[in-house]
Amino acid sequence: MGTAQFATRATSALLASVLAGALGYASWLTTGHAESTTTSTPKTDQSAEEIASVAAVKIRAAKADYQRGRWDPIHFKPAIDFAKDEACLVCHKEIMTDKPRASSPAGVKSTEVEAWYQALSTYSGQQETFHWRHTQSPYARQVMDLSCNFCHQGNDPRERSPHVTATNADGSNNSSWNNNQPAFALRKTVNVAETCLRCHGSYPAQRMGLDGTWPKIRADLESAEIPNGCLSCHAENFRTNRHQVTYLKADAIEKLAKDNSDVCYGCHGGRAWYRITYPYPRHAWPDMPDETPDWAVNRPTQSDARFRLPEKKQADAKPADAKPSDAKPSDAKPLDAKQPDAKPAAK
Ligand code: HEC
Ligand code: HEC
Ligand code: HEC
Ligand code: HEC
Ligand code: HEC
Repeated sequence: MGTAQFATRATSALLASVLAGALGYASWLTTGHAESTTTSTPKTDQSAEEIASVAAVKIRAAKADYQRGRWDPIHFKPAIDFAKDEACLVCHKEIMTDKPRASSPAGVKSTEVEAWYQALSTYSGQQETFHWRHTQSPYARQVMDLSCNFCHQGNDPRERSPHVTATNADGSNNSSWNNNQPAFALRKTVNVAETCLRCHGSYPAQRMGLDGTWPKIRADLESAEIPNGCLSCHAENFRTNRHQVTYLKADAIEKLAKDNSDVCYGCHGGRAWYRITYPYPRHAWPDMPDETPDWAVNRPTQSDARFRLPEKKQADAKPADAKPSDAKPSDAKPLDAKQPDAKPAAK
């Protein structure tokens, strides 16, 4: 009898400690947990910005085991929107230092292979990792400025998608991505349709009134004196208001492109991983025709608020401190609608 009583007490003590542990862990997940091991009541008032700060990350990283790291709140919204690369790199140095294999398992040396997309004249150097090509290659650094959270938008831990999703009664998507795109087009918290496709879509020749592939078309447009055939139409006539976003270096792109159309073609067909094209915003340009072509009817007329340059004042621009969710064009579904206080992270 005495033994049974002891067993019951032990069980409830165990239950109580498991429960306390679970509760502590839950608040650690949602609030950051810098103090959770030093005081019995975890600090609950850290803002998303504080959770994402390098200082707070360092404190958590110093105490983290694998699971705590894996579930660190910086991986999720809203904190991930505020994360600077430096904060991610506290735990993920390998992203900057990894190297591809010197040879494949079958023995083919990496120095002896070249993929079709490595034939562009802007390509240089050895085989490198995907991350290196986008954040460290000398060419990438000239034309763009991609931060970790440009691609990694975090995920809802349950749905494994950055955006809570549902299905409408008629079976159609109800997601918080642009245009209700399917929520699970994801790889490692990256939605390819909102990232890769911007620079790895196909060349939309028909929309330009052109016929055929660019390598064929360019022969008639380019010569030693006119090295960039794109600019015969895009220097002054069409869509001249472009690339005014935080993740591209607009001026450097135009400068480099003056004598090489592979600069333009590279991001608009030359490294196409998709048969489709990103539905780019269609910014007004001087002498733009009044009539909108059919394919452009539903296009936004401004870049995503998340990426708009603050200093580039457009006629209808809101004050610099306006929340991105206020500044969304009405025809585009806000990407961050669930985070009313989200601000794009400064790099
Ligand atoms: C406190 C340490 C820590 C910080 C800070 C951190 N991570 Fe992680 N992250 C981890 C650990 C641990 C894993 C699990 C690694 C594994 O399973 O190999 C992980 C996994 C990941 C994964 C893979 C997820 C998957 O589905 O497999 C991605 C992507 C990632 N982190 C991106 C980021 C980004 C982006 C940031 C900055 C916003 C960041 N991490 C900050 C520790 C951290
Ligand atoms: C251009 C988009 C892009 C950028 C910028 C980017 N990533 Fe990734 N990252 C990806 C994709 C896509 C994968 C999945 C790659 C795969 O599965 O082969 C990935 C995978 C990862 C993983 C999982 C590791 C693995 O090899 O599976 C981690 C961790 C990670 N990224 C961290 C980072 C950090 C930290 C930064 C900033 C320094 C960063 N990423 C910048 C797109 C990006
Ligand atoms: C803002 C534009 C941009 C975005 C977004 C982007 N890329 Fe790229 N990508 C580039 C550029 C520019 C290069 C060429 C870099 C170089 O030549 O060093 C490149 C190169 C590549 C390469 C060739 C790497 C090599 O070793 O030759 C692959 C593969 C690739 N990108 C896949 C992706 C995937 C997958 C995503 C989405 C997760 C993505 N890219 C997002 C611009 C972009
Ligand atoms: C013969 C003239 C011409 C040439 C040459 C040309 N374009 Fe275009 N381009 C156009 C026209 C016209 C449009 C559509 C304008 C509009 O929005 O009504 C367009 C649209 C675009 C768009 C936006 C597509 C969209 O869906 O929003 C991109 C990107 C583009 N061009 C890139 C290029 C690149 C890169 C090259 C060179 C490799 C090039 N163009 C060569 C005439 C041309
Ligand atoms: C590093 C990749 C990259 C390079 C290089 C690049 N583009 Fe783009 N381009 C983009 C992205 C991403 C967008 C969408 C930007 C946005 O959302 O506003 C875009 C948008 C455009 C648009 C649509 C403009 C609008 O907003 O109405 C045109 C036209 C265009 N690019 C033509 C060109 C031409 C011509 C060149 C060479 C001078 C070029 N691009 C070089 C990535 C690139």
